Amino acid sequence: MLPDDFLASLDEAGYEDRWRRIIADGSSRVFVAADGLDIVGFASGGRERAGEDGYSGELYAIYVLREFQGRGHGRGLVRAVVAGLRELELPDMIVWVLRDNGGARSFYERLGGVYVRTQPITIGSALLQEVSYGWRSLDDVNY
Ligand SMILES: CC(C)(COP(=O)(O)OP(=O)(O)OC[C@H]1O[C@@H](n2cnc3c(N)ncnc32)[C@H](O)[C@@H]1OP(=O)(O)O)[C@@H](O)C(=O)NCCC(=O)NCCS
Repeated sequence: MLPDDFLASLDEAGYEDRWRRIIADGSSRVFVAADGLDIVGFASGGRERAGEDGYSGELYAIYVLREFQGRGHGRGLVRAVVAGLRELELPDMIVWVLRDNGGARSFYERLGGVYVRTQPITIGSALLQEVSYGWRSLDDVNY
């Protein structure tokens, strides 16, 4: 879904630094999913970033390695992020996802996320659309 120029620009060392800073900073919450000794997914969340009306918490990112998808890791990661948001005293949650990412959209819908709105997003050279799902209360997340 993402343009080649954007993917080619991603730099492992840059991301490593960024995640070190995010984890050390402590204002958000970051979790990994483990299968035995292997890390097979991660998720992060914290204060809502864009000033969306009615939402103060946000699921920033969630990824599970393809070969480990469909085994409950995603659900477990959302559970962990929700606990993290509660710790930060954030009572609700929004998430943004590319409009054409049908798999992730089904996942959020399965967890009770309600469609909020669509907006354009520029990633590298591509103009894409992203949609948001919201949970007005963290109690509304259906595991
Ligand atoms: C979206 C993602 C995090 C879901 O994680 P997962 O570990 O595969 O999901 P789980 O196994 O915990 O599934 C939880 C529920 O969601 C449903 N679900 C998950 N993926 C789904 C899909 N693609 N289509 C339909 N339902 C789906 C599962 O069926 C399950 O419901 P059930 O117990 O009633 O069957 C994972 O597929 C992923 O990393 N995708 C690629 C990265 C991505 O798109 N991230 C989101 C960016 S915004």
